[in-house]
Parts: sequence; C-alpha cells; structure tokens
Amino acid sequence: MTNASASSPVLLLFGATGDLAHRMLLPSLFGLDADDFLPEGFRIVATARSVMDSAAYRAIAAEALAAHVDADRLQPALVARFLDRIDYVALDATKADGFGALATAVGSTQSLSIFLSTAPSLFGSTIAGLAAAGLAGANVRLALEKPLGHDLASSQAINDQVAHVFPEERTFRVDHYLGKETVQNLIALRFGNVLFEPLWNAAGIDHVQITVSETVGLESRGDYYDGMGALRDMVQNHMLQLVALVAMEPPARFDAASVRDEKVKVLRSLRPIDAGTVETCSVVGQYGAGAAGGQPVAGYADELGRPSNTETFVALKAHIDNWRWKGVPFYLRTGKRLATRQSEITIEFKAVPHSIFEGAKASADLKPNRLIIRLQPDENIRLTIMAKTPGLDRDGLHLREVPLDIGLANAFADVRRRIAYERLMLDLIGGDPTLFVRRDEVEAQWTWIDAIRDGWTKKGMTPRPYGAGSWGPSAAIGLAERDGVSWHD
Ligand code: BG6
Repeated sequence: MTNASASSPVLLLFGATGDLAHRMLLPSLFGLDADDFLPEGFRIVATARSVMDSAAYRAIAAEALAAHVDADRLQPALVARFLDRIDYVALDATKADGFGALATAVGSTQSLSIFLSTAPSLFGSTIAGLAAAGLAGANVRLALEKPLGHDLASSQAINDQVAHVFPEERTFRVDHYLGKETVQNLIALRFGNVLFEPLWNAAGIDHVQITVSETVGLESRGDYYDGMGALRDMVQNHMLQLVALVAMEPPARFDAASVRDEKVKVLRSLRPIDAGTVETCSVVGQYGAGAAGGQPVAGYADELGRPSNTETFVALKAHIDNWRWKGVPFYLRTGKRLATRQSEITIEFKAVPHSIFEGAKASADLKPNRLIIRLQPDENIRLTIMAKTPGLDRDGLHLREVPLDIGLANAFADVRRRIAYERLMLDLIGGDPTLFVRRDEVEAQWTWIDAIRDGWTKKGMTPRPYGAGSWGPSAAIGLAERDGVSWHD
C-alpha cells in the first residue's frame, strides 16, 4: 500500500451547505464519530460559497443532525464533540484567491481527504485552486460525487481534469449504492458460501431481474433530472454496479484492484443495445398524473412546468456476452413515481430438468427456485424453495413455494443499520478505494449507455405515458412477458 492508505486527520468538505451534506454526509460523519471510528483529533473543514463564520455553520450542522439522526443517538456530549471538530471557510471556488485561507484552516497536515459535493462545473477551478494552495500532495485523496458527466465524452473530460492533479489511486468516485450493506452482502453471499457458485451461471440461472423503483417524483431537482433522465440518473451508475457485482467472476481477494478488475470485465462484456435492438430491448416511460402514498399527484411535465421528452422510467433487457452468462437475460427497470419503493435483485434459477411428480397436481405447482436480494425498503435475502404442503393428499403430493428468509434486521438485531455514506466516508478517510468506482468502470458504463441513447434518437423513441403509482408503461411488462418472464413486484 502507498502512503495514501494512512488515515487522514482532516476532511475537507466542499458543498458543505448543500442537500447531500445536510441529509447524508454530516449525519454519516456524526455516526462515525459517535462510535469512535474517526481518528484521534480528527477535524472537518467545511466550505461553501455562503459567507458565515464557523459558529454559524456549526448551528447549521446541528440542525442537520437534529433532522436526520435518530433522536436517541443525539447525546449532547457526542453532538458537542462532533461540532467542535468543524471549522467553516467561505470560498468562491471559481476564484483562485480564496484557497490560501482554506490551506490555513487545514493546517500543517500533509494527509487530507477531500470530498467534492459540488457541481462538476466547479471541479476544474477547485482542483486548480487546491493544487496551487498545496492541498493536492501525495497524501491527499479526492472523492467525487455524481454526476460525473452526462455521456462518455463529458465524463472523460472531467476525469482528465481530475487526473491532471490526482492520480487514479487517489481518486475516489462515489456510487452510494456500493456503501449499502446489502450490496456488500451480495459479495459475501456469493463468495462466502459454497452453495450458490456451482449454479451461478447460464446452466443454473434462467434470468436475473433488477428493479429499483421509487415513489418520489422530481423532488425539486427538475433542472438536474430533466437533463439526465432515468437511464443516466440510475442505470448508468447504481444499476450497472449491481449488474457487475451479480455477474463478476470471483475476485482473487477482496481488495480494490481485484474486485474492480472483475467488475470492469463484466461492464465491457455487456452486449451493446443500439439502433438495431433498442426497440425490442428497451422501454421508456414518463409518468402522468396519478397517486403516490394515497394522494393525487401531478404528472412529470406539470411538476417540471414545461413539456419534456425526458424518461422517468426505463426497462431494459441486457445480455452479458461471456462464457458464464451466455443466453441469460438481465432485465433491469427503474423509475420515479412507481407503485412502491423497492430495490431488489431476483435471481431465477432454472426449472428442475424433469418432474417426477408426473400426472399429479404437484407438477403444475413446481416453480423454479428464486433468490431475492432486497436492498430497500427493508434489507433481506430470501430463497424460495418447493416444499410439500402438509396433509394426507391421496391424489399425489401437493407442493408449495415457501421462502427461506434471512431478514437482516432480525439476524443482526444488535447491529445498527448504517447510512451508505458512513461506510464510504470511513473508507475515504482510511484510504480504501475498494467500494469506489474506477475510471475504466465508469467509461465502460457510459459506453453502453451512450449507445442506448443514440439508438433512441435514431429510432425516434420517446417516453410512453404511465400513471403515477403504477408499475410503468404496459410495454415494460411485455418486454419480459415475451420471454415468458414476469417481473417480481
Ligand atoms: C440518486 C439519484 O443517485 O439515487 C436519485 O440521483 C435517486 O434520483 C437516488 O432518488 C436513489 O437512492 P436510494 O439510496 O434512495 O435508492
């Protein structure tokens, strides 16, 4: 390991007054501090454009904790200790002259973690300012939040700009899905058990489904979201990372190089969906008026305040062209204002090759085994198996599908469920990039996504309407049902 792996005593947080800092980053840092995970004497230098002093910022941070941390964890002594760690420096990141004050606040340490939770348009001037102020040395790591571009070319431009000052091993690209407990559990499940691996291939698996459905709409992010759409907001990053973890070969070790080497191979093996296949392998939708949480809600265009062709729903049928996954479809779907909030990976195994229950009702009852890994709203892993229904049936066995459940909340009742960013912040501060996304992964992701978008343009595909509170356009059901597959709702 390089020096970059030493724990940083200081975190420099850009975008410190933003929504992400408020909802996720400050509560995560507090959670780490309360459980004594932060290094001795750790300090946070928060920065944003708003002019205020450290006391005023600490008051904002206290409000963020009150709003987003369970009240029983907010013991006054812990809150006071945490707030005491924070200094605030106002900075206009477009101007070079403010960075000296930042360096003064950081102090003499050479070891620093920086988190950029700002618009990518500020990355260039921020990175130049950091370098000029001596805040980009060999022991400085840089974490970057999405959106890192809107296509391959813009993502390359951002990555080039960053690489100019921060080499890849010190660049930590955040995909918060990798900080989720169940996502890491997928790795534990696949490679910590002997049961699944022999079946984890085209011979044992019929298809894979990944659903990330949300009930929320635009959430006042109209300008950002309308320029992105569901494909780039959710599939390009979070869903393709899930695909990569489900499909990758066993890494040599659980370390940054080994895991990411395997993931990128999967991403490069994704069969392009382009103008030739986009109409049969993708469905796009945009929500109209409907209901959410029992209340009537407006359609996307009304929420946005103008007509738009941005997709708020996308369903895809993907293939991974390699030995392991030959012929196994991966059905992916995500959308806003859908029926429920649910993130789930379903692995459907092959049917038994032959039913011994011939003629009996049991044969008709036989269903393939499914492994359902649920990320949200609750975290659990469920394996469905066939079992005999109890009773003295005289017309042959009666079978029923029953779940073997590992409700993680029950299995680990004594362990607090953490925010995804707690894990990622701790890894950034400690210098472990395993759960961050490497440049080659991001570029493979964009390459696949750009071809889909290009296909939509060439074929003039525009979103089909769906009612808020539904499961998306009916064509999405057709996408799977054509292959005899039903979405797991
Ligand atoms: C973000 C997207 O990356 O992920 C949002 O920009 C989306 O549109 C969010 O709502 C979903 O994250 P989670 O953790 O709530 O599933």
